[in-house]
This record gives sequence, structure tokens and C-alpha cells, in this order.
Amino acid sequence: MGVRHLLWVVVAVSWVLHSQEDLICNSSDSKALLDLMSSFKLLVNGCGLNASANCCDWPGVVCNSSSFLGLSDHPSSSGRVVELVLTSKKLAGNLSDSLGKLDQLRYLNLSRNLLKSTLPESLFHLPNLQVLDLSYNKFSGPVPRGANLPSLRVFDISENSFSGSLPVRICVNSTGIQVLNLAVNHFSDVIPPGFGSCSSLRNLSLATNSLTGGISEDIFTLGQLVQLRLQENSFSGPLGLRIGNLTELVWLDMSTNGFSGSIPDVFQKMKKLQYFIAHNNCFTGPIPSSLSNLPSLRVLNLNNNSLTGKIGLNCSATSSLVSLDLGSNNFRGPFPEDLPNCWQLQSVNLARNKFTTPIPQSFKNFSSLVYLSISNSNLWNLSSALGILQHCNNLTVLVLTRNYFDEELPGDASLTFLKLKVLIIANSRLRGSMPQWVRGCTRLQLLDLSWNRLGGTISSWIGDFQSLFYLDLSNNSFVGEIPKQITRLHGLIHRNMSMVEPLPDFPLFMKRNVSQRGLQYNKVTSFQPTVDLGHNFLNGSIWPEFGNLKHFHVLDLSHNFLSGSIPDSLSRITSLETLDLSYNNLSGTIPSSLVHLNFLSKFSVAYNNLSGPIPNGGQFLTFPYSSFEGTKLCGGHCSPCPGSRSHPGSAEHSQNHYGSAVHAMGDRNLGMTIGLTFGMAIGIALGATRTGDSCLRVIMRFCNHIKSC
Ligand SMILES: *[C@@H]1O[C@H](CO)[C@@H](O)[C@H](O)[C@H]1NC(C)=O
Ligand SMILES: *[C@@H]1O[C@H](CO)[C@@H](O)[C@H](O)[C@H]1NC(C)=O
Ligand SMILES: *[C@@H]1O[C@H](CO)[C@@H](O)[C@H](O)[C@H]1NC(C)=O
Ligand SMILES: *[C@@H]1O[C@H](CO)[C@@H](O)[C@H](O)[C@H]1NC(C)=O
Ligand SMILES: *[C@@H]1O[C@H](CO)[C@@H](O)[C@H](O)[C@H]1NC(C)=O
Ligand SMILES: *[C@@H]1O[C@H](CO)[C@@H](O)[C@H](O)[C@H]1NC(C)=O
Ligand SMILES: *[C@@H]1O[C@H](CO)[C@@H](O)[C@H](O)[C@H]1NC(C)=O
Ligand SMILES: *[C@@H]1O[C@H](CO)[C@@H](O)[C@H](O)[C@H]1NC(C)=O
Ligand SMILES: *[C@@H]1O[C@H](CO)[C@@H](O)[C@H](O)[C@H]1NC(C)=O
Ligand SMILES: *[C@@H]1O[C@H](CO)[C@@H](O)[C@H](O)[C@H]1NC(C)=O
Ligand SMILES: *[C@@H]1O[C@H](CO)[C@@H](O)[C@H](O)[C@H]1NC(C)=O
Ligand SMILES: *[C@@H]1O[C@H](CO)[C@@H](O)[C@H](O)[C@H]1NC(C)=O
Repeated sequence: MGVRHLLWVVVAVSWVLHSQEDLICNSSDSKALLDLMSSFKLLVNGCGLNASANCCDWPGVVCNSSSFLGLSDHPSSSGRVVELVLTSKKLAGNLSDSLGKLDQLRYLNLSRNLLKSTLPESLFHLPNLQVLDLSYNKFSGPVPRGANLPSLRVFDISENSFSGSLPVRICVNSTGIQVLNLAVNHFSDVIPPGFGSCSSLRNLSLATNSLTGGISEDIFTLGQLVQLRLQENSFSGPLGLRIGNLTELVWLDMSTNGFSGSIPDVFQKMKKLQYFIAHNNCFTGPIPSSLSNLPSLRVLNLNNNSLTGKIGLNCSATSSLVSLDLGSNNFRGPFPEDLPNCWQLQSVNLARNKFTTPIPQSFKNFSSLVYLSISNSNLWNLSSALGILQHCNNLTVLVLTRNYFDEELPGDASLTFLKLKVLIIANSRLRGSMPQWVRGCTRLQLLDLSWNRLGGTISSWIGDFQSLFYLDLSNNSFVGEIPKQITRLHGLIHRNMSMVEPLPDFPLFMKRNVSQRGLQYNKVTSFQPTVDLGHNFLNGSIWPEFGNLKHFHVLDLSHNFLSGSIPDSLSRITSLETLDLSYNNLSGTIPSSLVHLNFLSKFSVAYNNLSGPIPNGGQFLTFPYSSFEGTKLCGGHCSPCPGSRSHPGSAEHSQNHYGSAVHAMGDRNLGMTIGLTFGMAIGIALGATRTGDSCLRVIMRFCNHIKSC
């Protein structure tokens, strides 16, 4: 590029900037904007009445000269508003009708505010509007029926509360739309015909609404479509052959609907498909061969369907596969030996199927494997499985729960899993003792060997792990003292290690609850820092040094034979949420310092030899009688302490509710019955697969609550 060229560019750029500065907002645009600003319940700094009179200077406003190529930098050249961007400004109130007067507007982005009510009709008659983003607001009602937005390219009204049927009529006049996002609203009914006119559509999302019926036929004519998201609706019926006409599709998500029938064998035409996500549907039959041979496929998730046959993935063909989830189906037959040939495959969930052969030798070569779950899949020979899997040198998460029933957990110290961060082999009635080889998994963050029959003492090396923050050895037959070294667990003293985070939606873990059905966590970060040694035969006392584990959330030592007193130092575990010491032989009093545990929401010392007053204050005011029953404690819900001048009202209260031991027992049994029934309901509802973690936390909390009533 010559110097003259460069000079010309510099001049041109400065001229453009200059002329932009000098633009004076068109008075009609100015009035429309003022009107708009005054309709927002909150002021935008620098905009509105008290701001500069020239609205072209307002933040978020871009003007363009109406006579751009004419009177260059004439100071009074009239600026027309072409862009308005007011995102994440906490704007509330209705959207003013005056927006319709900004007839030069090309780009309008008001996403992530608190705007509500219906949309003004005038917004749908802007001849130059190309991008309309109103996502993440509180708009409601139907979308206006008439629309003439001939320049529209992007229409995003996701994450609002729009209702009625889908606004397909927008396609009549806006045939150039490329991105149409209607997700996370309350649209209902079947998909009306009409999307076919949006023939340039590339991304269409109808996810998370209340839509029913099948996919409307004209969607299959959208030959440019690259992304189709239909998940979380109530669609039903078979997925027709015509889905194969969407030859440009890269991403197809139809999960959590009621689609049924077999998956059509049309994938050979869909040469660009990378994501096929169809979990939580009712698909039956085998995986069609065009799908199990699809070279472009990166993520295949068919979890929780009713698919049958053997898993016949052809890894010579599907060499791009990174994540495979075929859990919770009715696949039968040999364990898929070919998987290690998918040389990029990192995440494999095959849980809840029935395999007729154990983990094959070929898995020794599975070097890409990072996450593996094969819970509840009829597997046997744990010793061989571990011997094979130890060669997968990138294996980080291993979940083998509910297999290998009554087998011996190998103790062989020579097994090596150098990268393992999560190890879950629970719920299998395994015999044996603390497995020596686990000691070598020095990066372990999460260890769950609960609900087995492991015996002997808990090894002291358990305290050596640098990153362990979740330890569940509950419901085994461990004897002896709690090793003091456990109070040195680095991961519970300082919680600063980086966590493994499985790929989205990897069903990691089944936590057996009262009902003996599973609750499931999908993310390592959703595990609370925990030490659960409940339901064993441990004796000795509770180490005062437990107080050093500042980052604990859950400490469960219930149903053991622990004696001695409750250490005062537990009050230093400031983040403690659950403390269960029930059903032991603890004596002495409850340290009054425990009232300082501000996050404690579940607490039980029931059935111990404790006596003296229940601490008065803090969270202790919220714990039910059942937290203290079976003890000689006094005060609170229990009988008044001797010598204390009890309030007549509170004495009557405790008399009425808990006066007789028989009555108290009755309450307890009722509580347990409710707990069991409710737990069972959750177990059934959750079955094997995923559920939002937040939802799960709420349920867990509710469960815990019921359990303690
Ligand atoms: C302002 O825009 C209106 C159209 O909305 C137009 O009629 C008018 O001429 C413009 N004013 C100036 C000074 O450009
Ligand atoms: C504008 O400024 C005046 C005085 O500076 C103030 O009283 C008034 O409340 C302001 N109006 C708005 C809308 O901010
Ligand atoms: C302003 O208008 C001119 C001509 O219409 C156009 O080329 C240019 O891209 C516009 N600028 C902006 C920022 O919209
Ligand atoms: C907002 O719109 C709704 C319905 O269109 C109307 O009932 C309400 O009065 C409007 N509120 C304001 C502040 O304009
Ligand atoms: C609108 O603004 C938000 C926040 O800045 C941004 O994430 C989003 O991509 C914008 N929308 C469009 C369609 O450009
Ligand atoms: C399309 O635009 C024309 C012209 O403004 C209008 O009459 C018609 O009602 C629009 N169609 C729809 C479906 O909104
Ligand atoms: C459209 O879909 C493609 C393919 O999945 C994706 O890469 C792109 O981010 C999507 N664009 C929008 C705006 O959603
Ligand atoms: C769409 O698929 C159907 C059935 O597979 C086929 O008959 C039809 O020719 C396809 N149409 C196009 C345009 O590819
Ligand atoms: C499995 O899918 C069915 C729909 O086929 C759904 O009703 C059920 O809730 C799903 N199970 C889980 C655990 O998500
Ligand atoms: C598996 O894929 C390879 C490579 O595409 C192909 O040659 C072979 O025929 C396929 N095998 C089966 C059983 O489909
Ligand atoms: C592992 O791969 C090598 C070379 O690709 C092959 O020779 C060997 O047989 C494989 N081992 C198993 C157990 O599949
Ligand atoms: C597995 O880990 C090794 C390092 O131990 C790394 O070099 C290799 O790229 C990883 N393999 C895959 C397929 O991710």
C-alpha cells in the first residue's frame, strides 16, 4: 500500500469520525427517544431530559447521517438514530410505542433488563430494522400478529414470558430472517405452518416452551438450517424421514420431549451434523446404522430412551466423536469393544443398560477416555475391570456404582490411576477393606465407597490427599477409631484446588438416599464438601481437630459407637450446614458455642447420652424436637431445665406436643414414613438421569428437612 493510499485512508477515517461527532439528532428521533427514556422506570446515565440535548451523544445511541454522501461535515447535518443498545441496565416498565418512530433504526438491543407488558405494535413496522434483541426481559402476552420488518435478520425474544401460539406470521414479510430465537417462553399449542417462508433461516430455537404435536412439515424445507433446538417441550410422535432433508444441520437438540418410534435411518444425508441430542424421549428400536456411522458426529446423547439392540457404534467411521451418552436405555449384548477406536472420545456414559460381557481388554488402549460411567449395567469381575482401566492414562472420573454385587473390592496396591479425581464404586455390597491402591490416586477429589460391606479400620492415609473434599464411606462395616489424620485433609482446610468439571450433562453420580433410589449430581462442583462416615461401627471420640476443617459443609458421623463429648472446636467450622451425630454414645453437653454456626440447617444429636441445656439462640431456635430426642437434654423443645424459670406458655407448648414419650415416638415414625414416601417419589421421578442441579439441591434440602422432622 502506497503512502498516498495510507494518507487517503487516514483522511477518510477522520472525516467519518468527525462527521459522526457533529451529527445533530433529528428532532423527531430525539422526541421519540425522550419518550422512550421517560417510559423506563430507571434513568440511564447520560440519556434523557437532563442529558445533552443532542441524543446522538447519548450512550448506546448511534446516529448516521441522512445525507452521508452529501453535505459532508456541515455542523448541522441531521443525524438519524440507527442503533440503540441498552443492555443490562435494569430498565423496567413498558416499552413505549414511540420506538416505532425511529424509522432508520437497524439495530435494537434491549436484552437483559426488566421490561414488561406486551410489545407495542409499532415496533413491528420498522422498515430498516435488521436486528431485534429483546431477550432476558419480562415481556408477556402474545407477540403482535401483524409484522412488516422486511430487513430483519435476527429476531431474539428468548427468556421472556410470551404466550399464545408461535409468531410464525413474522415469516410472511421477513423472509430474510437468519436467526429466530423464541426459546424459554410460554408459547403453547402445535407449531403453526409458516416457518417455511423464512427460507434463509439458519438458527431456529423453540426450546423450553409448551409446544405440542410434531415438527411442522415446512420446517423440513428449511434447507439452510444449521441449528434446530426443540428441547424441553411436549412434542410427540415419530421423527419423520424428512428430517434427513436438513442437510446443513450442525446441531439438532430435541431432548426432553415425548418423541417416539424409531430413529429414522436418514443420517447419511446429514453430513454436517455434529450434535445429536435426544435424551429423555421415548425412542425405541436400535440406533440406525447411518447414525452409528456418521463421520461428522461429535456429541451423541440418547440417554433415557427405550432403545434396544446392541451398541454397534462404528468407530472407524465416527472418528470425531467426543461425547457419548447412551445411558438408561434397554441396550443389551456385548460391551462395545470398538469404542477405544473412537480416538477422540472423552466422555462415555453407558449406565443402566445390560451388558453380557465385562469390560473388554481393548479398553487398555482407550487413551482419550476422561469420563466413564457404567453404573448399574450388570457388570461383573471388578478386579479385571480395574486391571484394564488403570491403563487408560487420561481417566479422571470413574463411576462403577451398582455392579459387581458381593464381589471383593481389590486391595492390590499396584493398581495405578494417576489422573483419577473422582472415584465412585458405591452401592454394590462389595467385601474387603480400604483399598490400598486408592492411596496412590493422589489427585483424588471425590471418593465414594458407600453402601458396601467394607470392614477393618479406616486407613490413616486417607488424610494424605491434597485435594479430597468429598469423602463418603458411610453404610459399611468399618470398625475402630476415626483416624485422626482425617482432620488434616488439605482440601477441606483450604479449598483452592481447581475442580474437574465434566462435560455438560455428564451423569456423574448416584447418591443413594433413604428410599434406596438414587439422587444424581451432574457436576463435581455441585458436591458439598463432605465427610460422611455414618452407619458404620466406629468407636472412640470425635477429634477436636475436626474444627480445623473450615470448609466443611456436611459432617455425618451418625449411627456409630462414638463416645466422649462433642468438641467445642466444631464451632470453628463456620460453613457447616449439616451436622449429624445422632445414634452414638456421646455424653456431656452440647457446646453453647455451636450457636455461632450460622449456616447450620440440619442438626441432630438424637439418641446419645447428652444432658444439660440445649443452646439457646442462633440456628438452634429452628431445629425440631427430633434433633434432640432420645437424650437427656433440656430446654428448647424438650422439657424445661431444672432450676430454670420456664415460661408458662412454652412449658404448655412442649407438654402438648412432646409431653409423652409415646407421642414423641409416634411423631418420629410419621416423619420417617413421610420421608420414605417422599424419597421414593423423588427416586422414581429422578430415576437414573439428569436433573438440574439447582432443582436437585432444593429437593435434597426438602428431603433432609423431612428426614429430620
Ligand atoms: C427527521 O426525520 C423525519 C422523518 O422521521 C424527516 O421527515 C425529517 O426531515 C428529518 N429532519 C431533518 C432535519 O433531517
Ligand atoms: C433534572 O435535574 C433537575 C435539577 O438538576 C432535577 O431536579 C430533576 O429531578 C432532574 N430530572 C431528571 C429526570 O433527572
Ligand atoms: C451510515 O450510512 C451509510 C450509508 O447509508 C452506511 O454505508 C453506513 O454503514 C452507515 N453507518 C452506520 C454506523 O450505520
Ligand atoms: C403497560 O402496559 C399495560 C398493558 O398494555 C397497561 O395495562 C399498563 O397500564 C402499562 N403501564 C404503563 C406504566 O404504561
Ligand atoms: C445484545 O447485547 C447482549 C449484551 O451485550 C449481547 O450478548 C448480544 O449478543 C446482543 N445481541 C445481538 C443480537 O447482537
Ligand atoms: C406484511 O406487510 C404488509 C405491508 O405492510 C402488511 O399489509 C401485511 O399485513 C403484512 N403481513 C403480515 C402477515 O403481517
Ligand atoms: C447458530 O448455530 C450455529 C451452529 O450450531 C452456532 O455455531 C451459532 O453460534 C448459532 N448462532 C446463533 C446466533 O445462535
Ligand atoms: C425430503 O425428504 C423426502 C423423504 O425423504 C423426499 O421424498 C424429498 O424428495 C426430500 N425433499 C428434498 C427437497 O430434498
Ligand atoms: C425419562 O424420559 C421420560 C420421557 O420419556 C420422562 O418422563 C422422565 O422424566 C425421564 N427421566 C428422567 C430421570 O429424566
Ligand atoms: C465402519 O466404517 C468403516 C469406515 O467408514 C467402513 O469401511 C465399514 O464398512 C464400517 N463397518 C460397518 C459394520 O458398518
Ligand atoms: C492396542 O493397540 C495396539 C496398536 O494399535 C494393538 O496392537 C493392540 O492389540 C491393542 N491392544 C488391545 C488390548 O486392543
Ligand atoms: C492423554 O494424556 C496424554 C498425557 O498423559 C496426552 O499426551 C494425550 O494427548 C492424551 N490423549 C488424548 C487422546 O487426549
